[in-house]
Amino acid sequence: MNDAFGKPQSLILLGGTSDIALAFAERLVADRCRTVVLAGRDRTGMEAAARHLLADGATSVPIVDADATDVASAAQVVDDAFKAAEGDVDVLVVAVGLLGHQSADERDPGRVAEVTTVNYTWPAATLARAAERFAEQGHGRILVLSSVAGVRVRRANYVYGASKAGLDGYALGLSEALRGSGVALQVIRPGFVHSKMTEGLDAAPFATTPDVVADAMVGALTSNAQVVWVPGALRFVFGVLRNVPQAAWRRLPG
Ligand SMILES: NC(=O)c1ccc[n+]([C@@H]2O[C@H](COP(=O)([O-])OP(=O)(O)OC[C@H]3O[C@@H](n4cnc5c(N)ncnc54)[C@H](OP(=O)(O)O)[C@@H]3O)[C@@H](O)[C@H]2O)c1
Repeated sequence: MNDAFGKPQSLILLGGTSDIALAFAERLVADRCRTVVLAGRDRTGMEAAARHLLADGATSVPIVDADATDVASAAQVVDDAFKAAEGDVDVLVVAVGLLGHQSADERDPGRVAEVTTVNYTWPAATLARAAERFAEQGHGRILVLSSVAGVRVRRANYVYGASKAGLDGYALGLSEALRGSGVALQVIRPGFVHSKMTEGLDAAPFATTPDVVADAMVGALTSNAQVVWVPGALRFVFGVLRNVPQAAWRRLPG
């Protein structure tokens, strides 16, 4: 339950090694969040993150195994994470994501299925269960890491972009369904972020960092915004790009 000052006390990260999610967790822990549940597949990475968060002042950082290629596990992972939190959960972040390699993935049905599952199917299934758990509590907030790649899907990264478009649409629909329930869901739409996911890639215009995205996520906690663009200018850029004729869109670099 948020403390007397409205600050979250407990947090679940689905994607417990995500650079963006961990930068957000660091900020919450610095502001008295005491429990951070890390759910993911890389135990060594999560143990290192847990040590860091405990040193920063968290009192409990349990780890839950989660493999986003295993759709059947989604509800159980959410239940395991809520159980590990040992009490009400204030915030849950969906940060699992797989960029893939477009040129190879588009010719490989197995890879298309994996990218789509990790970015869309598994997160959507976890969101369905998380919404139910939060509704039982009667309060809570869900932050979903979408991407501008899903706002208008491009030839250059349509496997990833389409999966993010699916997640974005699902999350917006669920956000509407949760209205009036005491549970909030906000969609975070970053542009290019310098993180593990984009290591070695050329930065896109308006590139930013996990710290900047994390700051925007902290800002979202005290706002009613359904969608948070990072950086904010991308809201206006995509307001235009969404409506550019396909022939011109096709010629844009990247
Ligand atoms: N970086 C960007 O430019 C950017 C831009 C817009 C949106 N986003 C979104 O922001 C979110 C966080 O990304 P990030 O930048 O923080 O990158 P990141 O550090 O690579 O985080 C991605 C997370 O997804 C996890 N993951 C991938 N496949 C998984 C699987 N099969 N099972 C369980 N976990 C899996 C990773 O775990 P492992 O450590 O085990 O791989 C990691 O925790 C993602 O949803 C991403 O799509 C990123």
